Amino acid sequence: MTLHENTRRAGADAAGEDATAGATVPVTLTVNREVRHLTLDPRTTLLDALREHLRLTGTKKGCDHGQCGACTVIVEGRRINSCLSLAVMHDGEAVTTIEGLGTPERLHPMQKAFVTHDGFQCGYCTPGQICSAVAVLAEIADGIPSHVTADLADVRFSDAEVRERMSGNICRCAAYPNIIAAIRAVAEGAA
Ligand code: FES
Ligand code: FES
Repeated sequence: MTLHENTRRAGADAAGEDATAGATVPVTLTVNREVRHLTLDPRTTLLDALREHLRLTGTKKGCDHGQCGACTVIVEGRRINSCLSLAVMHDGEAVTTIEGLGTPERLHPMQKAFVTHDGFQCGYCTPGQICSAVAVLAEIADGIPSHVTADLADVRFSDAEVRERMSGNICRCAAYPNIIAAIRAVAEGAA
């Protein structure tokens, strides 16, 4: 910010104006292996940047409060609720959304398993469930324990681990048994 802009900002603050009104910041994200340059209001969530600015509407907005998991995406290899994170916090980072996991012609194994095991009904939660499930298997492979891990030195796949780790992804259609079956199939290499 230049000295002139700083002075103008200080004047606006003193006058009680909203100093952030109209301000934008450059943000660069690598989304689904493609570098995307954005100019955003710094208050823009990662979810809104993906849906409203990049038109990647596979990621869903359910609650917008971190309670449903519909907005789950993978950032730098870890799943996050994109509604709870500002896009500017991820400047320079790699984001994978459901569109980046696979295509209708070349489904990711987890996408394929959800179809095979009927892991959805309305499908609204499904992009978040699938992104979360892919990251869950990576967490287990990396030896990251969960609340139900009995032996911290021996993190293994189990249905209980999946239930615990996927507990932030709500399915209003209650497809849970089939979702677990789909994740188990991928974990066992059967998808
Ligand atoms: S929309 Fe982000 S957790 Fe519900
Ligand atoms: S499939 Fe409908 S909310 Fe999960």
